[in-house]
Amino acid sequence: MKIAVIGGAGYIGSHVARELLDFGHEVFVYDNLSSGLRQNLFAEASFAHGDILDVQKLDDFFESVKPEGIVHLAALKAAGESMLLPEKYSVHNITGSLNILNAASKHGVKYIVFSSSAAVYGSPKYLPMDEKHPTEPENYYGYTKLAIEQYLEWYGKLKGIKYAALRYFNAAGYDIKGRISGLEQNPANLIPIVMEAAAGKRAFVSVFGNDYETEDGTGVRDYIHVNDLARGHRMAFDKLQNGAESFVVNLGVNSGNSVLEVIKATERISGKKIDCRITGRRAGDAAVVLANPALAKEFLGWQAECSDLDTLLSTTWKVYLELIRK
Ligand code: WQD
Repeated sequence: MKIAVIGGAGYIGSHVARELLDFGHEVFVYDNLSSGLRQNLFAEASFAHGDILDVQKLDDFFESVKPEGIVHLAALKAAGESMLLPEKYSVHNITGSLNILNAASKHGVKYIVFSSSAAVYGSPKYLPMDEKHPTEPENYYGYTKLAIEQYLEWYGKLKGIKYAALRYFNAAGYDIKGRISGLEQNPANLIPIVMEAAAGKRAFVSVFGNDYETEDGTGVRDYIHVNDLARGHRMAFDKLQNGAESFVVNLGVNSGNSVLEVIKATERISGKKIDCRITGRRAGDAAVVLANPALAKEFLGWQAECSDLDTLLSTTWKVYLELIRK
């Protein structure tokens, strides 16, 4: 299939582009390189440098590529920042997505696979969280993802575009085959922060609270390997192409790791000592977040294959080692 990967130079987008190429799809990346990197592009995929807020450029891109499917991953994703700068998130995430939907509708796109988030659920009312869990986002970022899911539903009804909204839990890890090496700049997530500390790029890791009701008192999250995540996108296209109706599905593992487990395992894998300092809890953080991935298994036939903590961390450490070599 001809697939446009919007945000395809980013961390997750590049892994999705790689997976689609590996399975014989024709891939066309559109990215403004605000957080995406040229280093994450592949020779077999064509690349257009453009912003989703540039309606004309987006239109030209769709006109020249005429994609049958698109993956939409172009978004801002810092939950904390979204609470301080909601206007920025409205424009980039919501207006940008509407621009994509309008271009998709104008140019006859049949299928959209959308990068949604567990942030649409808000704090867990029960665990593990399935897709029927109430959607009450607690940060504006999560709200933008939920709003886009709702626009997709409307465009699905009104314009016949079929979509899959994939609700990612905590994406982590790097390509198992080592084909992607772009590092996120100024990361806000735990694993890249721990890696930077191990690589000597950061003096210490702040542990946001050790008084949660978890085994070691620190927050537990459902980390999913980005190769598993990417496979979910490819399988979502297969499903839609085979006639399925639009769907919303969790991509997670239902296996949790605490902050201290991540730090200790990184010390073991890297052979480096990591200085960690317990600070107060971060506002809005839940003690435990876990996905119920039963629907992904039943409906898509998807299950995690490489999301164990050692694979997540060792594939990431391989990439971060470059920081030490530089
Ligand atoms: C993980 C754990 C922190 C940093 C975020 C978004 C969510 C989704 C995934 C995209 C928590 C702790 C972290 C640090 C720490 N994104 N921590 N010290 O908050 O689960 O989810 O990314 O859709 O929407 O909110 O991920 O990596 O920030 O935190 O102790 O310096 O690590 O408290 O327990 P989170 P995270």
